[in-house]
Amino acid sequence: MNLQDVSRQYDLSGRTFVITGGTGVLGREVTAALLGCNAHLAILSRNPEAAEKMIQQLPRGGGRPLVLRGDVLDKKSLDIAARSILGEFGRIDGLVNAAGGNNPHGTTSPTMSFFDLPEEALRFVTDLNLLGTILPSQVFGKPMAEKGEGVILNFSSMNAFRPLTRIAAYSAAKAAVTNFTQWLAVHMAQEYSARIRVNAIAPGFFLTEQNRFLLTDRDTGALTARGKKIMEHTPLARFGQPEDLVGAVLWLLSPASRFVTGIVLAVDGGFSAYSGV
Ligand SMILES: NC(=O)c1ccc[n+]([C@@H]2O[C@H](COP(=O)([O-])OP(=O)(O)OC[C@H]3O[C@@H](n4cnc5c(N)ncnc54)[C@H](OP(=O)(O)O)[C@@H]3O)[C@@H](O)[C@H]2O)c1
Repeated sequence: MNLQDVSRQYDLSGRTFVITGGTGVLGREVTAALLGCNAHLAILSRNPEAAEKMIQQLPRGGGRPLVLRGDVLDKKSLDIAARSILGEFGRIDGLVNAAGGNNPHGTTSPTMSFFDLPEEALRFVTDLNLLGTILPSQVFGKPMAEKGEGVILNFSSMNAFRPLTRIAAYSAAKAAVTNFTQWLAVHMAQEYSARIRVNAIAPGFFLTEQNRFLLTDRDTGALTARGKKIMEHTPLARFGQPEDLVGAVLWLLSPASRFVTGIVLAVDGGFSAYSGV
C-alpha cells in the first residue's frame, strides 16, 4: 500500500453518513471532517434552523449536507428522517452517534448528595446517552443490515473505563454505551454481515465552553484545582481540542480500519492509561 492507496481510503465520495449531535462542540468537528472528505451527510438536529446556519459556515468538499429534524429519543422522528435520507441519497453507509451529554442536576455536589439526585435528571442522562445511541442504531442500522455493509461510530467517554467523581449517571450511561458498542459489533457481524463494523471513541478532557470555568480561572486563565488534577494525570499535558478527534474518527469510519470492530478508542492524551504513579 502506498500513499495514494492510503489517501484513497479517506475519500468518502458517493457515501452517505448520518450524524446525531453533529452541531455540538465535538460533533461539529466530525460534521466538518465528513463534509471535507466528500461524504454526503445528513445532520439530525432538534433545531434544524440553527443547524442549517452552522453548516453554511463550514467549508465543504464534493458531498452534500442535508439538515433534518430529529430527536434521538423520538423513534418516529428518526424513521421520518431515514425515509428522507434514503429518498435523497438512496443509501445509508454510516452512522455517527454523537448526541449525548450530562445534566448538572445529575451531578453530586456539597449541596446535592447522591441519595437526593432527582430521578428525572438521572433518567434524562441515561436516556440521552444510552437510548439516544440505541434508537438511531436501530433505525439507521437497518438499511446497513439489509445492504450487508456499513459502519457505526458511537461516542463513549474515558470515564466509562474508570468513573470520574460526581457524575454518577453520566459515567454509568457511557459505560453502557461502551458495552452496547461491543454487543452491536458482534451482533451485526454474526447476524447480518462481516462488512458491518461498530466502534466507539472515548474522548477525554476537552476544554469547551461548558467546562472552561470549572477547569480554568475566569479572570486569569490559570488552572483551577480540578483542572490541575486533570493535567497531572494527563501524560500529554494538555486538554484536548475538538480537532484532535478527527484522525481517530475518520480512521474508524473509513475502510482504513476495515478489520476493526467492537473497540473503544480513547482519545484522551493518555489519561486512562496513567495510574498517577
Ligand atoms: N465535550 C466533551 O468534553 C466530551 C467528553 C467526552 C465525551 N463527550 C461526548 O461526546 C459527544 C459529543 O459531545 P459535544 O461536546 O459535541 O456535545 P454538546 O456540545 O453538548 O452538544 C450536544 C449535541 O447533542 C445533540 N442532542 C442533545 N439532545 C438531543 C436529542 N434529544 N436529540 C438529538 N440530538 C440531541 C445536540 O443537537 P441539537 O441541539 O442540534 O439537537 C448537540 O449537537 C457526546 O456524546 C458527549 O457525551 C464529550
